[in-house]
Amino acid sequence: MTDTSKTPIQFAYWVPNVSGGLVVSKIEQRTSWDIDYNRKLAQIAEANGFEYALSQIRFTAGYGAEFQHEPVAFTHALLAATTKLKVIAAILPGPWNPAVAAKQLATIDQLTGGRVAVNIVSGWFKGEFTAIGEHWLEHDERYRRSEEFIRALKGIWTTDNFSFRGDFYRFTDYTLRPKPLQQPHPEIFQGGSSRAARDMAARVSDWYFTNGNNVEGIRAQIEDLRAKAAAEGRTVKVGVNAFIIARDTEEEARAVLDDIIAQADPEAVNAFGDAAKQAGRASPEGEGNWAKSTFEDLVQYNDGFKTNLIGTPKQIAERIVELKAAGVDLVLSAFLHFQEEIEYFGQNVLPLVRALEDVRTPETV
Ligand SMILES: Cc1cc2nc3c(=O)[nH]c(=O)nc-3n(C[C@H](O)[C@H](O)[C@H](O)COP(=O)(O)O)c2cc1C
Repeated sequence: MTDTSKTPIQFAYWVPNVSGGLVVSKIEQRTSWDIDYNRKLAQIAEANGFEYALSQIRFTAGYGAEFQHEPVAFTHALLAATTKLKVIAAILPGPWNPAVAAKQLATIDQLTGGRVAVNIVSGWFKGEFTAIGEHWLEHDERYRRSEEFIRALKGIWTTDNFSFRGDFYRFTDYTLRPKPLQQPHPEIFQGGSSRAARDMAARVSDWYFTNGNNVEGIRAQIEDLRAKAAAEGRTVKVGVNAFIIARDTEEEARAVLDDIIAQADPEAVNAFGDAAKQAGRASPEGEGNWAKSTFEDLVQYNDGFKTNLIGTPKQIAERIVELKAAGVDLVLSAFLHFQEEIEYFGQNVLPLVRALEDVRTPETV
């Protein structure tokens, strides 16, 4: 399959709003979860070609991540510190209800010149739900609730006198004022890789975020997703997670990966693996995130090593263009030392990606 898209591939980074970085390893990580570090990181990212930042929602430490800042408040702080970056706030149906989320996000959108977006996650961490007294639904029920949540958000954001009768949410003649600045509404992302996740994305989401994977695995998901979306008369964009290790030589980059895994915290990785696999296998077809992840994969908790953006800037740029040819619209990235590595990526990898994209426009392939 050739790259026939003229649209440049986009880049997002994971906001480290929880402690411990994005790998469950005792390796040194020059990354901090505090707000000063994160404000500067957001400014570096927008100056280096990143369009989006994605915050995380976690209510308790379950493995690593001992401290967790709340993502909607954190998103607002990052938007206030930047001028172009779009920041995606993670929202978990259950703890949040759509009326509160729609109102919070509409206000943030108004206050920040229309730059907020939302990532509706469906939840994988049963212990967390138990800890905060939230009822735990089975896998596909969680998605049924998330779909209603998204339909409610869109309804509140786009119509006056909104009424809705769902199994989880009800609205009667409700009018939100002010509505969000962005028209028709802020972008709606979602995270998850199961069949239920793709079905929901096809019907209601603007973006489908999936865990790291090889190009074949990603292509298969995209083909399924796009066929389902086409049947609904819709298009859905796709973002893929990757833990990026870009170094001047491939040996250096591989050595960093080996070190991350050698210093992994087995107790925390296994504890996470048990919870995550239970959540992934709980999807009826057993294709959810983490269903097939090895110990090494789980050290990056969204399978980011599998995408293999590990090597020299040239190797990484070539693989990014392969992902784009498979239908990927956005790379969601994580790094060991976020501030310094996002700068290195912007200066050394991104120009190569843009040059390769130019070479491969439809006129020349
Ligand atoms: C990019 C991405 C971001 C996610 N962010 C969060 C998050 O912040 N909090 C959370 O509890 N789950 C998060 N998840 C987990 C998903 O909501 C979902 O529970 C998980 O992927 C399992 O779903 P599946 O069985 O459909 O694969 C995220 C998933 C992805 C792919």
